[in-house]
Amino acid sequence: MSDDIVISAKNVTKTYRLYDCHADRVKETFHPFRKKYHHPFNALNDVSFEVKKGETSGIIGRNGGGKSTLLQMLCGILRPISGTVEVNGRVLDKIDEGFRRMDEGFQLIARLIVEENEKTRKEILQALKS
Ligand SMILES: Nc1ncnc2c1ncn2[C@@H]1O[C@H](COP(=O)(O)OP(=O)(O)OP(=O)(O)O)[C@@H](O)[C@H]1O
Ligand SMILES: [Mg+2]
Repeated sequence: MSDDIVISAKNVTKTYRLYDCHADRVKETFHPFRKKYHHPFNALNDVSFEVKKGETSGIIGRNGGGKSTLLQMLCGILRPISGTVEVNGRVLDKIDEGFRRMDEGFQLIARLIVEENEKTRKEILQALKS
């Protein structure tokens, strides 16, 4: 992976095993002839993308679209069934940086609201005096 690429995902597929009931999971684990009781479910199907140094990226998608699955793979918590995920540096540091910036944004909004309230209060007092 070249130096200017921080995150690279290539043809990443993640399949979960779905069971109709908990008993099926247990049956599969202990079946003497390894009979399968699960249904395979593709949470991610052939996903590829790159994030370059200095770029800000976001993952958007509907509920159950696979965002958390993808993040867990970038953090090394989950492994793809096929494809590769490469990360230069620590992902958690990058996510932490994202939250820090978000927090700064919220603090700025809160300050602006306080300033705006103070301005409105002064205007009301002024109007009442005149
Ligand atoms: N451990 C698991 N076992 C089986 N299926 C799972 C597992 N984790 C997630 N799934 C399924 O995989 C799909 C993707 O889930 P994921 O949590 O990655 O989506 P998401 O985009 O983060 O959703 P949300 O917007 O609700 O946070 C969903 O259909 C979910 O039910
Ligand atoms: Mg999620």
